[in-house]
Amino acid sequence: MSIEQLAETAQAMVAAGKGIIAIDESSSTCAKRFAGVGIDNTEENRRRYRELLLTTPKLSDYISGAILFDETIRQSTSDGVPFAKYMSQNGMIPGIKVDKGTHALAGCPGEVVTEGLDGLRDRLKEYYGLGARFAKWRAVINIGEDIPTGTCIEANAHALARYAALCQEQGLVPMVEPEVLMDGNHDIETCYDVTEATLRALFNALYEQNVLLEGTILKASMVIAGKDCPDQADVDEVAESTVMCLKSTVPSILPGVVFLSGGQTDEQSTAHLNAMNQLGNLPWPLSFSYGRAMQQAALKLWSQDLVGNFAKAQAIVYERAKENGLAALGKWEG
Ligand code: 13P
Repeated sequence: MSIEQLAETAQAMVAAGKGIIAIDESSSTCAKRFAGVGIDNTEENRRRYRELLLTTPKLSDYISGAILFDETIRQSTSDGVPFAKYMSQNGMIPGIKVDKGTHALAGCPGEVVTEGLDGLRDRLKEYYGLGARFAKWRAVINIGEDIPTGTCIEANAHALARYAALCQEQGLVPMVEPEVLMDGNHDIETCYDVTEATLRALFNALYEQNVLLEGTILKASMVIAGKDCPDQADVDEVAESTVMCLKSTVPSILPGVVFLSGGQTDEQSTAHLNAMNQLGNLPWPLSFSYGRAMQQAALKLWSQDLVGNFAKAQAIVYERAKENGLAALGKWEG
């Protein structure tokens, strides 16, 4: 796989006015989401739900690709078309979550490191064969008293860079995701400092591991106050802080940055993205790779009538994709 092909895929992922839908919840995370709305967490319900999302009519107007889970990339539509094939035929790039989740980081109480490097080369080979053209790895940085430590930030950055290098070797674009969590009562300045240190460590590690930035996408968390902070910043402050933090840490050669929603409401996630793009003069496209903020309204409606509300839920998915697609251009009007 040439760097030109990786760069082409990366650019297509952040094509103007398009973003990614993250539907890579593990079966246990899916269980939580389904339990919240009273749906049984069976394999068939997970398959049917992913089918609902991926076969939303005209989804590719605003969606360039989707991140799948291991189970999902092996599943098919009700007509028997493998999801990855269905996506390629309908103008969307299949992606795959390849990390094995977070585990307690020894020696660092309250902190986690993402695992999954063992055997990753072979798994990437298989996923490429199944149609995946990009892969995601999520690292998690907690903010709290005396954390994050430099040890945690470095360990996660190192793992992200090792994974990214393996992805490029196997022809997949790495979507590197260091998520600074919104949990806690920290203020926006603290989030800024932690995000800045995390991104700086990440890009140093990518350089050390010979990762080509032209064929890499950053999935970032926004610079935002903790959920329990009494002093919540307004939309413009979140947008300005996030863009300033990215500009000071992310090389301009990167093809694009997409955001996770991380527990923001649908409206917040769209308003923040829109405000960032309205600032203009950005070195890279800023778009979305939302999970909950793309899905939660549709999931709720579907749960009320799995047969009768299938198409209505798809209409909501399309609407959320459109709103976020417009926000990626700074053209969302609320
Ligand atoms: P949320 O948008 O729900 O945070 O999920 C995005 C994601 O892929 C987290 O890894």
